[in-house]
Amino acid sequence: MSDLKRTLGEAVEAAFAAEGVPAELARVTASDRPDLADFQSNGALAAAKRLGRNPREIATAVAGRLKDDARLSSVEIAGPGFLNLKVADTALAARADQIAADPRAGAEAAAAPRRVLVDYGGPNVAKPMHVGHLRASIIGESVKRLYRFRGDEVVGDAHFGDWGYQMGLLIGAVCDENPDIAALVGTLNDKDAPIPAAFERVTLADLDRLYPMASARGKEDPTYRDRARKLTADLQAHHPGCYVLWRQFRAVTQVALARDFHALGVDFDWWKGESDVDHLIPEMIADLDAKGLLVDDQGARIVRVAREGDKRELPPLLVVSSEGSAMYGTTDLATILDRKRAFDPHLVIYCVDQRQADHFEIVFRAAYLAGYAAEGQLEHIGFGTMNGTDGKPFKTREGGVLKLADLIETTRAKARERLREAGLGEDLPPEEFEDIAGKVAVAALKFADLSNFRGTSYVFDLDRFTSFEGKTGPYLLYQAVRVKSLLRRALAEGAEPGPVAVTEAAERDLVLTLDAFDGALAEAYDKKAPNALAEHAYRLSQAFSKFYAACPIMSAEPELRASRLTLAGAALRQLELALDLLGVATPERM
Ligand code: ARG
Repeated sequence: MSDLKRTLGEAVEAAFAAEGVPAELARVTASDRPDLADFQSNGALAAAKRLGRNPREIATAVAGRLKDDARLSSVEIAGPGFLNLKVADTALAARADQIAADPRAGAEAAAAPRRVLVDYGGPNVAKPMHVGHLRASIIGESVKRLYRFRGDEVVGDAHFGDWGYQMGLLIGAVCDENPDIAALVGTLNDKDAPIPAAFERVTLADLDRLYPMASARGKEDPTYRDRARKLTADLQAHHPGCYVLWRQFRAVTQVALARDFHALGVDFDWWKGESDVDHLIPEMIADLDAKGLLVDDQGARIVRVAREGDKRELPPLLVVSSEGSAMYGTTDLATILDRKRAFDPHLVIYCVDQRQADHFEIVFRAAYLAGYAAEGQLEHIGFGTMNGTDGKPFKTREGGVLKLADLIETTRAKARERLREAGLGEDLPPEEFEDIAGKVAVAALKFADLSNFRGTSYVFDLDRFTSFEGKTGPYLLYQAVRVKSLLRRALAEGAEPGPVAVTEAAERDLVLTLDAFDGALAEAYDKKAPNALAEHAYRLSQAFSKFYAACPIMSAEPELRASRLTLAGAALRQLELALDLLGVATPERM
């Protein structure tokens, strides 16, 4: 069940081909004069240039071949040879019936499903979250849903940062503050022992408090830093005391993070961490060595990844530091190996801040050299930052970095305020009102992010994001809720949907918009760019809104009412689906 744009496009290509014009010149696009036509093709002009023929002549011949196509009500030639196509109302109605009956609301599945792993979120133990993590979570979640919906087998992995230098810093800082913990760290002898009660006293709040202090001190004080490095190496060598204490850090952090992410509608399939590939590292190092890729460099061990023709010099991958520790890139390389064994992905998409582009280029090249992945199977999709009004990466009012839970709470508070201003949800039970405020908040944050191409940076503007007017998440939710309440009313009054008939301009426009869903999805999928889908959701809401204003439903004659109820139902299904793929849930009412 292809969309009209594609099937008509094929017919137009065939007509051009019969006139000796190659398909790639005959493309059909949405008309840029919707008042005159639904679709257009500029093929005759392109062909005229290439083949040295008269464009109007080609266009006339092609139009002659298309004039008997029942799906078209008119085929006209404009200007020097533009082909303007208008779709017959009956063809629009038939397409609307198809979309309405389709659980996928008119969307195709991918031709050849693949196994795809999406690496996103990337939160760390103790190190606070920043906007990079927020955007990684929002974009990655959407990419994951989009790929899954197209039919790929998809795993989303948080790639939890739990194995670096920050762990050594924290072990040292916690021991300094708690002599009893320090004593136990020195005496434990089983890394898998149950976590002692003294360790269980360490909370996330302690880690949040201690990390900035320890990190700052590590920068100033070389002795302090060296101890932290040594403790990191001890941890990585499975020193039992360090390891058990670290298990406590990891556990308290993960529980809190999973809860906050869940509130944002972000849920990972795997919570694997950097530490989970630790056991693969010795084997990997031996393998890199055997393949002649490992080079000694001032006490460290590296893999050189520079290639001839590189425009700038890419540093090597640091595999083992001079202290003997595994580094960020080491765990990333071992993770590629781990994922290959666990899932054998055709494609791994790393949804991480653009500022890490070099890191990934280096790791990917090392993986290709070592044969852990085939060239092109690893892809980094970067993104810009979410900035404050000062143009720098967003910070909280106190100047601190972002805390996901705080951001969600602030946005929720604003959402409550907005709902009250608009007189929405006031008559609903308090728990339901809260649930709606949560959904409005998530929609506001996610839509603001996903409506920009991911490479673009944008400014955090809570007032605008939470508005019920304009191109915002709350506006889309409001439109969806309006359709839901209309459909509820119809149900209560016993009005049933029925076959679609298209007559009004607003109906035509709504059906053409519904028809464009698959194209938007395909673009979002191919470019890993959910903004194409966000744009579609917005257009659909607008088209619905115009339809609703121009075409009375409940007061219409039974047949017309049935047709319009079908259109409304199809619009709602597609809108909710698009929103779900953006990671946004819709309330039942407001
Ligand atoms: N934890 C990292 C950070 O905070 C992000 C992880 C991204 N994923 C990866 N495979 N390196 O910067």
